[in-house]
Amino acid sequence: MADLPAPPTHAGLPRIQALAAADMAAVDALIRTRLASDVVLINQVAEHIVSAGGKRLRPMLVVLAGQATAGAAGADHHQLAAIVEFIHTSTLLHDDVVDESDLRRGRSTANAIWGNAASVLVGDFLYSRSFQLMVELDRMEVMRILADTTNRIAEGEVLQLLHVRNPDTDEAAYLRVIERKTAVLFAAGTHLGALASGADAATQQALHAYGMALGYAFQIADDVLDYAADAADLGKNLGDDLAEGKATLPLIHAIAHSDETTRQRLRAIVQQGDGAAMPEVLAAIRATGGLDYSRRRALDYAVAAEAALAGLPESEALAALRGLARYAVERTY
Ligand code: IPE
Ligand code: IPE
Ligand code: MG
Ligand code: MG
Repeated sequence: MADLPAPPTHAGLPRIQALAAADMAAVDALIRTRLASDVVLINQVAEHIVSAGGKRLRPMLVVLAGQATAGAAGADHHQLAAIVEFIHTSTLLHDDVVDESDLRRGRSTANAIWGNAASVLVGDFLYSRSFQLMVELDRMEVMRILADTTNRIAEGEVLQLLHVRNPDTDEAAYLRVIERKTAVLFAAGTHLGALASGADAATQQALHAYGMALGYAFQIADDVLDYAADAADLGKNLGDDLAEGKATLPLIHAIAHSDETTRQRLRAIVQQGDGAAMPEVLAAIRATGGLDYSRRRALDYAVAAEAALAGLPESEALAALRGLARYAVERTY
């Protein structure tokens, strides 16, 4: 008799989404109502990016962390989820200006349509709206976590700027950037989900560690997709990172493992931010196994994320969190 297939170690994405669906509907309603302003341009720009959707992964993490630690998510979880998505959305508006990107969530970016000034200013609106929502919760611990988190994100973005067109950017420097620009917001989301459930400090810490590792995995996977995705699936242009002289893990690996001639050529491409050299760079990345290496590193972080949950009581929400760790590295968009 053939062996039975091993039971799945994680829930698939549709099941995860179904588990979070009722809460996410509440979060979405909150996002919609709290987006409003009497300044028309704010509504136009914010509506443009918010109605395009996005994966809504960060708010889903707040909700699932809440479910995993309290059995169910409540109004505070919904508010925190909306806050985290507002912060994320504001960083996207700013990021697309900095990265000069013209495609996001399958649509022209706000900066491509309304220009850089409007994108930056509406990003600031969303950012400060998230602080208004925070204050409503009237909990100093929540404000401390989110103030620290947004400050770290800003540091991460500036740190990344310092590495632009720098061919000496190595894996350690890359990891320092992605911790701040991406992972800390994932960690804040899951941490706050546990906090709002009234979970004890050890549980909050476990969810924090899970979110942090997941954030690393997610950003490494994003950086692989910038070289290897289908642009239509991704809803973003491929090659943005190379074009702006941003050395991410696949390219860092290629620079470290190519022969001297190729290495010098890759370094020059990074220094020039030469997006047209994409075929050449991809060939070097493939020749050195840079995509597989990066996927492997992302998987290591996903496994670490799952491991951080080990001490928590088993539940559907916990299985869903484990599932999201796998999804983060297996996703195609
Ligand atoms: C994009 O995040 C920015 C990164 C950290 C890579 P997402 O891929 O979660 O963006 P949306 O919200 O789904 O569009
Ligand atoms: C995302 O980095 C970081 C933040 C939005 C803070 P990327 O520049 O890789 O994100 P995408 O690829 O534009 O979504
Ligand atoms: Mg970008
Ligand atoms: Mg990217």
